[in-house]
Amino acid sequence: MAILITGGAGFIGSHTCVALLEADYDIVVVDNFSNSEPEALRRVMEITGKSFKVYAFDLLNEKDLETVFIENHIEAVIHFAGLKAVGESVAIPLSYYQNNITSTVILCEVMKKFNVKNLVFSSSATVYGIPEQNPISEDANLWAMNPYGRTKLMIEEILRDLYQSDQSWSIALLRYFNPIGAHESGMIGENPQGTPNNIMPYVTQVAIGKLRELKVFGNNYPTIDGTGVRDYIHVVDLAHGHLMALEKICGQTGIEAYNLGTGKGYSVLELISTFEKISGVKIPYRIVERRPGDSAVSFADPSKAERELGWAAKKGLAEMCADSWRWQSKNPKGYEELKGMKALL
Ligand code: WQD
Repeated sequence: MAILITGGAGFIGSHTCVALLEADYDIVVVDNFSNSEPEALRRVMEITGKSFKVYAFDLLNEKDLETVFIENHIEAVIHFAGLKAVGESVAIPLSYYQNNITSTVILCEVMKKFNVKNLVFSSSATVYGIPEQNPISEDANLWAMNPYGRTKLMIEEILRDLYQSDQSWSIALLRYFNPIGAHESGMIGENPQGTPNNIMPYVTQVAIGKLRELKVFGNNYPTIDGTGVRDYIHVVDLAHGHLMALEKICGQTGIEAYNLGTGKGYSVLELISTFEKISGVKIPYRIVERRPGDSAVSFADPSKAERELGWAAKKGLAEMCADSWRWQSKNPKGYEELKGMKALL
């Protein structure tokens, strides 16, 4: 029996592959490598000392996807594959709807055809829009402010409708807050293409001198120091959350959403000062205008995941900064140096 991981070469996907392999699961990865590198999976194999099948195709190719289910005995699916850049989604919304929603519908159709009805879906705290109150619980109002967030929200609704039509499905909707950090080996980590949108890869690229300074998007929010507050969660804690959700869904039916966050918020300036202390590197920054669509404060009430999945984040902000820094300083160009080569899989 194997677990199919779509988008397994991505930041959270690759860390989840490590967690599942170390828990002695067999895995199969499908990735179209549009926003990830095969090298990440080679390194997952190196870290764990385990091998696994990798299929390189887009989930929109239904026939290819059926082949995976014919060639492997799939027990459950963890579905990461999708486009995830907020700004980009505003520029090319149709690509986001096509890639994120259509591919999920195709995945569910194929799962149904092969009678595989255990699904962990990679959702996001972005479905809470600008939260009305913090900490945010799973029954908070849901609304999305950009096409990317709308795809996550729509997919959650599609999966709820699917469950209503056939209650033999077992589905976990995992709403991530702000994933940062990297595996302690420094071999896998966040590898954004082009200029990073998210703060931590931007900070680490400033720290290695690739970018000149960090722009801090506003310091006039109603927060401890005026800068935005977020619930940063270590990607390894997040990966462990997927393992716990997988174990939960494989033993029952139903559909449930879970916040995967620490329940603690830190401001941008707190993040910067923690990173500087840990890395010993000064991060030059400049306060600029707020970024449209940003909320002032967003952090999780993670008690439902604790109660129902037996999961809680363990790693603190200092460890997140240390692990992000180790990854970036050991891989100043991410996986890029191997881009030209067909990494051995
Ligand atoms: C964090 C804080 C910014 C960059 C996004 C997506 C969300 C999820 C996680 C996928 C905010 C500030 C940032 C910079 C800054 N992704 N910031 N300068 O926006 O909370 O969430 O990533 O699921 O869907 O929306 O993360 O890292 O962009 O911002 O000052 O160059 O850092 O204003 O307060 P965000 P972020």
